Amino acid sequence: MSRPSHIGNLDGTMSTHDSTSARPEQDSPGKTLWGGRFNAGMAPEMIPLNLSLGVDRRLWREDIRGSMAWARALAEAAVISDRECGLLLEGLEQVGARMEREGLSDAPDEDIHSAVERMLHETVGSVAGKLHTGRSRNDQSSTDVRLWGMAAADRVLEALRMLVGALLDMAEQGIDHVMPGYTHLQQGQPIRAAQWALAHAWAFLRDGERVRAARRAASVLPLGSGAVAGCPFPVNREGLRVALGFARVSENSVDAVSDRDWICDLVYAGAMAGMHLSRLGEDLVLFSSTEFGFVRLSDGFSTGSSLMPQKRNPDAAELARGKAGRLAGNLQAILTLLKGLPTGYNRDLQEDKVPLFDTVDTLLLTVPAMAGAVASAALRPERMLAAMDSQLLATDLADYLVRCGVPFRESHEVVGRLVRRAEDDGVPLAELPASVFHQEHRAFADDVYDVFDWLRSADARDSDGGTSRRAVVEQIEKARDRLAQG
Ligand code: ARG
Repeated sequence: MSRPSHIGNLDGTMSTHDSTSARPEQDSPGKTLWGGRFNAGMAPEMIPLNLSLGVDRRLWREDIRGSMAWARALAEAAVISDRECGLLLEGLEQVGARMEREGLSDAPDEDIHSAVERMLHETVGSVAGKLHTGRSRNDQSSTDVRLWGMAAADRVLEALRMLVGALLDMAEQGIDHVMPGYTHLQQGQPIRAAQWALAHAWAFLRDGERVRAARRAASVLPLGSGAVAGCPFPVNREGLRVALGFARVSENSVDAVSDRDWICDLVYAGAMAGMHLSRLGEDLVLFSSTEFGFVRLSDGFSTGSSLMPQKRNPDAAELARGKAGRLAGNLQAILTLLKGLPTGYNRDLQEDKVPLFDTVDTLLLTVPAMAGAVASAALRPERMLAAMDSQLLATDLADYLVRCGVPFRESHEVVGRLVRRAEDDGVPLAELPASVFHQEHRAFADDVYDVFDWLRSADARDSDGGTSRRAVVEQIEKARDRLAQG
C-alpha cells in the first residue's frame, strides 16, 4: 500500500487546526471533517492509524459517481437548488478530470471521501459543503465499495471464463487420448485426457456461480441510510438505486451501514477459486515433470534457472498454487473482522477493503496467467500411454467375470490374485498366459485379452459424466453451454 510520503508527519503541525476558522472544509493534513466538536487536533500517533486513503484511493471513480447521484437526489428533494446541484455536478466532473490527470499521489486526506470533498471545495468553493447533507461516510463508503465490487466481480468472471474456455479447448484436444485416472495418486482406471481437463473446468464453472451470487449480494444500495438511522430528507432511494445501477435498496439502515456479507461471499468465492487454482497448479507441476511428462507448458509460462541450464520450471502453476494461501487467508481476515462487532457501523469495518481488494487483485493476476498457461500447454499423449500399466484394467477384468455371472466380490478376489501373480512373475497383467487366467477362474476364455484395450475400457464407462467418448463429448457441450450462459 502506498502512503503519501508526508502523512504521518510527526512534528504535530498536521494535527492542530483552528476550529474557530470559517474555512468549511479540511485543507491541511490532520484537519478533520468533524472539527466543530473538538478542541484539540488529532494526536500524531493517531493520524497514520486513522488513514485509509492508501487503500481506498482506488474508489475515487465510484465516490464521484455516488456523489453525483446524491447531489441530484438532494436537488430532487429540494434540499439544494438546481443551481447548486449544477455547480456540484460540474465540480465533481472537474474533480474526476483532475484525478484522471494528476492522480492522488500526495493527497493529505484521511480517506477517498474526504479527498473528493476537499477537491470539490477547491473547485467550486463553499457550495461543496452542501453535498454531504443527509449522508454519512458510513453509507457513502459502503455504496462506493459495492459499486466497485460489482465491477470487480464482472472482471473476475471474465477471467474465469477465459480459464474455463482454455480448459475446454484442452479437453477437446484430449478426447481421443487416454491417461491414467488417479485415486490416491495411484493409477486407478484409464480415463480420456479430456475427462481430466473437464474436471478442472467444472470446478471453475462453480467458482463463477459463486462470484455471480456474491455480485447479486453486492447489488444492494445502502445510500440513504445515513450514519445509522436513515436520512431525514425526502431523497428518493429508488431513484438512487436506478441511477447507480443497483438491483435492490437496502431494507434497514442499521444493517445497511454494517452489512459486509457480500464481501464475505466474494472473498469466499475467491478462496475457493484459489483452492481450485492450486489443485490445477499442482496437476500441472506434477504432469509437466520429467517423470510424468503428460503436459508440456509453453516457454511463455515457464522459467529457467540462473544456475541449472537444463531447467524449465512450471512457475505459473507453482505461483497459482502459492496464491491459494493468501486467498484463504483473506477469508479468515474478513470473517474475523466481522465477528463480534456490535450492531451498526464500527470503524473496524474500514478494514473490509484490504482482504476484498487483495482477493480481487490476486485473482486478476492469477486466473489470466493460468488461462494462458493452459491455453498454450500441449498434451503429450505418448507420455501418457507410456506411463500406463495394464493393472489399470484390473477392474475391467473383474467386470469381465461379472458379465459371466460371477458375483463382483468374488471376481474382485480372483483378479486380486492375478495381479499378485503377475507381480510375483514380473510380467504385466496383460501378459499372463491364458492358462493362468483360466486356472484362477474357469469363466476366463481366450477373449480375456480383449479387455486390455484402453479406449474400450473408457468407452465402457458410458454413464452420463463418465469417460466414454459419447459422455465426454456431451460434457464438453454442456460445459460450453454453461460458459455461454454465464
Ligand atoms: N474511511 C472509512 C471507510 O473506509 C469511512 C469512514 C467512516 N468513518 C467514521 N468515522 N464513521 O469505511
